[in-house]
Amino acid sequence: MNKVILITGAAKRIGKEIAKEFFSAGAKVIIHFNNSEEDAVHFCEELNEIRPSSAISLQANLDDINEVKALAHNALTAFGKIDGLINNASTFYPTPMGDFTTQDWDALMGSNLKAPLFLIQELYQELKKQSGFVINVTDININRSIPNHSIYLAAKSGLSSITQSLAKDLAPEIRVNAIAPGAILEPPHKTWTEEEKNNILRTVPLNKMGTESDIAKAALFLADSLYITGQTLNVDGGKSL
Ligand SMILES: NC(=O)c1ccc[n+]([C@@H]2O[C@H](COP(=O)([O-])OP(=O)(O)OC[C@H]3O[C@@H](n4cnc5c(N)ncnc54)[C@H](OP(=O)(O)O)[C@@H]3O)[C@@H](O)[C@H]2O)c1
Repeated sequence: MNKVILITGAAKRIGKEIAKEFFSAGAKVIIHFNNSEEDAVHFCEELNEIRPSSAISLQANLDDINEVKALAHNALTAFGKIDGLINNASTFYPTPMGDFTTQDWDALMGSNLKAPLFLIQELYQELKKQSGFVINVTDININRSIPNHSIYLAAKSGLSSITQSLAKDLAPEIRVNAIAPGAILEPPHKTWTEEEKNNILRTVPLNKMGTESDIAKAALFLADSLYITGQTLNVDGGKSL
């Protein structure tokens, strides 16, 4: 694969695994990060040791529209082209009724909806030129709800909606798809109790958590599937059934 892929939030966890999957398929990868500089730099070094000049890391706070635009510009100049954008970065925390503020709204809408949409706008002409693709990472729970997460879920629902509308608006040159993960990893900085874990597994017909690799493989599949656009691939062990 002689392609250049920008993955947001790719210093750790699911984003990192997506970057590894595309790198292993021969792509050059642009690893976006916000706070996880050490992880991002170290990860790029590892990849460049395996294949020189094939990975670069770029910092941006996606809550800041100027940084979103700078990220797009720097990503474009990094390897001279971009074939694929994977909107994976996300802020996730509860916003119980009575407690949330406009800052919470901005933080949850920023990384989960506004930044992905504006990144696409900044990059669509280049993606058009390369007959490229966008993959938006949403969440299986937008159709089921998670208690006290109304703002996060509204943002992910918006991301799901723009996946469909932009698939039409940007066709035929650019394919726009989404992946909706189910229970893959515990949220950052949280460890589930056995009881919490069992409660989650009860809702998953395959009776196990997914892995980062399940999402990464789905992303590579969508990138390679030239007749699929506007679709959401549920990678959730059957949870949505
Ligand atoms: N984990 C799951 O089981 C699960 C379930 C359903 C959906 N998903 C979705 O799958 C994707 C990956 O999940 P994950 O659990 O691996 O994500 P995560 O660890 O919660 O977040 C990924 C990265 O997003 C970046 N990020 C957050 N806010 C940002 C901001 N304002 N500006 C720039 N970067 C920001 C962070 O980068 P830095 O560390 O560099 O700051 C973080 O490492 C997300 O879209 C998530 O919503 C995950």
